[in-house]
Amino acid sequence: MKLDWKTLSRPIIALSPMADMTDSAFCRVVKSVTDIPLVMFREMVSSEAVVRRNDKTLGMTDIHVDERPLVQQIFGSDPAVMAEAARIIAEDHHPEGFDVNMGCPVYKIVHNFNGAALMQDPKRAAGIVRAMKSVIDVPLSIKIRLGWSDPTDCIEFAKVLEAAGADLLTVHGRTKAQGYSGVADWEMVGRVKAAVSIPVLCNGDVHKAELAPKALTVSGCDGILIARGALGNPWIFAQIDDVLSGKPARIISLPERVRVMRRHLDLHTEQYGERGFVSFRKHLSWYLKGIPNAKPFRDAMCVAKTRAELEPHLDAFLAANG
Ligand SMILES: Cc1cc2nc3c(=O)[nH]c(=O)nc-3n(C[C@H](O)[C@H](O)[C@H](O)COP(=O)(O)O)c2cc1C
Repeated sequence: MKLDWKTLSRPIIALSPMADMTDSAFCRVVKSVTDIPLVMFREMVSSEAVVRRNDKTLGMTDIHVDERPLVQQIFGSDPAVMAEAARIIAEDHHPEGFDVNMGCPVYKIVHNFNGAALMQDPKRAAGIVRAMKSVIDVPLSIKIRLGWSDPTDCIEFAKVLEAAGADLLTVHGRTKAQGYSGVADWEMVGRVKAAVSIPVLCNGDVHKAELAPKALTVSGCDGILIARGALGNPWIFAQIDDVLSGKPARIISLPERVRVMRRHLDLHTEQYGERGFVSFRKHLSWYLKGIPNAKPFRDAMCVAKTRAELEPHLDAFLAANG
């Protein structure tokens, strides 16, 4: 499967990378309920850990055929290490694309000059793009924010990345200083789109399908990347397609919600083994969020320690809401 950002049908709709969330199990679930072309961005992995051949990190880059086309995101700050990590992953798993995280605002990432810190060092950022491009034969995209603290920083930075050879940019419409506060500025994202000739994806605050047309119109971007809106709602991409086709977003019935949640749990424990049951709780909460009368069942489910303990609660929940 080949990924060509320039010719992919518009608007491009993609799952945004989320650490501890957009793993193989979740990407497979999203794909299983989506009937439109969809690109998955896999959660970030450390280039240093890949190059050290850390088993856990290498395991995170494994790809199931159902998830393709898949873009593997990498973080790091050393161009040579980033290139070597991409070479190793490409050789082992052949993702359809690579992405570099130049937008993560989290302290443990930026204090090592990774993530959003690269926006303060355009020369190094360009060096990473050039080094990675020299070893991979698939597209390289970069995910950035509006800037460190000045939301216009991104315009010059985007031009630097384009000149270095980036094939696509995603812009989260907030600065690093904003973290997750305020609202994503889709207009400013649109100024990046207007400043470069490579495709640009708009990211931030498309929490429900009905917001997608506005994000696309205001930003003028080639597509959108959805992160938090997909948690507990892997159907958001199909719902966006509904809305963009002029239909109301499809409503997901409770039995369908529970069926997909069970399938997600199957895939999650297939990926992580029995210990995966505990780390699935966060997904469980999201699947049941906002459902009337779910709270007592959710509270009981979230303390279940095994699948066998969980199942009677799920059955009772379905029966009570049937
Ligand atoms: C739990 C979580 C983990 C994230 N991990 C990553 C990551 O690994 N790489 C990345 O570029 N962005 C990461 N992000 C940022 C999202 O991809 C996205 O840019 C941000 O949440 C805004 O989009 P949204 O409003 O659709 O959620 C993460 C966000 C969340 C909530």
